[in-house]
Amino acid sequence: MEKFIIHGDTRLVGEVEISGAKNAAVAILPATLLIDGITTLENVPNISDVKIICKILTSLGAMVNWTNEHTVVVDTRHLTSTHAPLEMTSKFRASYYLLGALLGRCKDVQVGLPGGCNLGARPIDQHIKGFESLGATVYYGHGQITANAHNLAGSTIYFDVVSVGATINLILASVLAKGTTVLNSVAKEPHIVDVANFLNTVGADIRGAGTDVIKINGVSKLSGNHTYSIVPDQIETGTFMTAALASKGDILIKNCIYEHMDSLSAKIIEMGGNIENFGDSIRVSCTGKLHPTNIKTLPYPGFPTDLQPQIGVALSIADGTSIINESIWDSRFQYTNELIKMGAKITAQGKTAIFEGVDNLIGAPIYASDLRAGAALLIAGIIAKGTSELYNIHYIDRGYEKIEDKFSKLGAKIERVNEE
Ligand code: EPU
Repeated sequence: MEKFIIHGDTRLVGEVEISGAKNAAVAILPATLLIDGITTLENVPNISDVKIICKILTSLGAMVNWTNEHTVVVDTRHLTSTHAPLEMTSKFRASYYLLGALLGRCKDVQVGLPGGCNLGARPIDQHIKGFESLGATVYYGHGQITANAHNLAGSTIYFDVVSVGATINLILASVLAKGTTVLNSVAKEPHIVDVANFLNTVGADIRGAGTDVIKINGVSKLSGNHTYSIVPDQIETGTFMTAALASKGDILIKNCIYEHMDSLSAKIIEMGGNIENFGDSIRVSCTGKLHPTNIKTLPYPGFPTDLQPQIGVALSIADGTSIINESIWDSRFQYTNELIKMGAKITAQGKTAIFEGVDNLIGAPIYASDLRAGAALLIAGIIAKGTSELYNIHYIDRGYEKIEDKFSKLGAKIERVNEE
């Protein structure tokens, strides 16, 4: 079991380079299953969720070859299986994309149930409803989802909730379906647009990604021999922006997209931080007391739930009382118990947490309960007075590449220790 030992009281200063987006990569890699050919993906984040997806693709008969640290070549010409077993799919959430992609290509698939961070109930009813609307028959049982369809046919689907996963899965399932699919009330996150851009690059006809309605005109084939570079990670960018704010530091965040960060930038400015836009880099700096604010998480372009724990750390040391309302997940305040161990004054009940700012956090042994909670607690350890030990860091490795190296270059004192 690895843990981080963090010597705190650090003001983060310097430059950091953002990796490719986890939540785009974990969809685009399965999307290569729709192609009868060879695809080169660049700017792929070298993180554990991506490595598991690559293993699953290999088990399905794809040839997956890392040609450098961030470039993956996937040859999906000779698939040998349409069965992704539970022991692999249960390791992460995005394994549900194998259903849409395999169904789109092979029409008969068996995929183990997805796992992933424990954020409360994580139903996939909207994915299933969408597949059924395209003509698939879907069964659950023994930890597996089986879906088959002799002919997938375009359909008009109205989602009951705005879902990132269901939006992408229905794009995957319908690009090769006969006719036109119209998806209504879809999610608009940057990674949805990236998946659509990727699929259009290889020959799909997807319009409207990034708006409320996506229209997919089915095509007969997607072609190989394309190279596509994955979009920079919006949430990693926001994690470093929030770290600059919470540490009252000064960070130039490179290789990111300013427009994806609007809702966070607005909150950082409200809290007393400064933001400068340099096109493909953002500088976030802050001096003096942080102002309190209220936040409600919402689907994009609203404030991202995946940045809620990180900004919660900044609110825990703001000069006054702030309220966060978490509207996406039932159980995303587990990190507040760890911040309380560090001296924070937070009352969390249900989907609301009240933060009464304290002057300082104090180092303590703390436990990550999920990926973003882990990133938030790492920031908490960096700004706290004294030393913290952060456990369960495998969660962080799922979605952040070399996080301790990136923070160390900004002045943080973090050691990764292997504890028997
Ligand atoms: N929902 C349903 N039915 C469905 C699907 C979703 O009721 O069939 C509900 C969920 O319970 C939730 C809401 O809809 O209340 C939104 O869920 P969504 O489907 O958008 O989430 P997801 O696709 O499972 C992705 C990200 C999460 C991120 C959410 C929200 C990936 C692999 N995961 O999850 O990212 O929190 O969107 O933006 O893209 C993370 O990266 O740390 C992470 C958890």
